Amino acid sequence: MGSKTILITGANGEIGHGLISHFAEYDGVKVIALDLNPLDETTRAKCHRMYTGDILDSRFIESLSTGYDFDTIYHLAALLSTRAERQPTIAHKVNVDGTLNLLEMAITQSRLQGKEVKVIYPSSIAVYGLPDLSVKHKAQKIKEDEWTEPRTMYGINKLYCERLGRYYTNFYRQLDAEPMGGRVDFRCVRFPGLISAVTLPTGGTSDFAPEMIHHAASGETYNCFVREDTRIPFMAMPDGVGALLMLEAASKEKLTTQIYNVGSFSPSAGELKAHVKGAFPSASINFNPDLKRQAILDTWPEDVDDSRARGDWGWKPAYDFERAFAEYLVPAVTKLYRSK
Ligand code: SER
Repeated sequence: MGSKTILITGANGEIGHGLISHFAEYDGVKVIALDLNPLDETTRAKCHRMYTGDILDSRFIESLSTGYDFDTIYHLAALLSTRAERQPTIAHKVNVDGTLNLLEMAITQSRLQGKEVKVIYPSSIAVYGLPDLSVKHKAQKIKEDEWTEPRTMYGINKLYCERLGRYYTNFYRQLDAEPMGGRVDFRCVRFPGLISAVTLPTGGTSDFAPEMIHHAASGETYNCFVREDTRIPFMAMPDGVGALLMLEAASKEKLTTQIYNVGSFSPSAGELKAHVKGAFPSASINFNPDLKRQAILDTWPEDVDDSRARGDWGWKPAYDFERAFAEYLVPAVTKLYRSK
């Protein structure tokens, strides 16, 4: 991988942990981790340096920039969709103003270093908004430019930040005598719900899948907040981390867009339950829909068309539904709760 300096914001989140563990395997890679909350000792030991701080503090972000020459910024810090509905103005600040601060820092860095700085950004299926269930069923796998009519603060924030990223790459200060477009190389994947075997998400609307699996493994009853027929796409966390790494590594000439869907498997909540019960036969899982969170999920697509990612940079998930359960989720969650 060569020598590289990488900034990870939201390092203490689920994707952050996965990325940090990945980079720890490469000698030449210096990870600078940033989060509001300190990392646990084991994860911290895998980083070159950890900073506890706020992406909204632009002075702090600028000062970070004076200490390092970043090659790539993985900007993961965000408030997820359920939490964002409860605190919309805070969500807008963190998700949008925070991203703006990072893009400004990236462009300053690229100017100082005289080279492009990559910004890798996880967007979401929340950018889509299907008007009703019958359209959702008919639409099935949707493409990047279809149904981008989000109904949540989080989805709106993500869609807007994708556009900000494109602006910083292509049109930044386009009226200047010497325009600076092309100095930030913004690349983005729209993630489905991610399922980790080692951490639980906080504040997402796709959380029912990881919660169901973790409750089953820990022997707790789970009251699932969606209907059994709810279907949205999901992905095993190692594939989520892999997608970001693959997109970062892709050569720029191959990219025909900056925004890519990535898909993996798309079970209904009832099918998830059947799989969880197959692995943990004594699991107690009930469906007790929260109609408001359900309404959000009913606007998210059943599945995504990820043919652009497959064609441009060779995206292919390692885990389908069966393999994700058999080879990743079940063994790892079982181990996790056995050791607790
Ligand atoms: N997992 C996210 C959420 O539920 C969607 O990308 O908010």
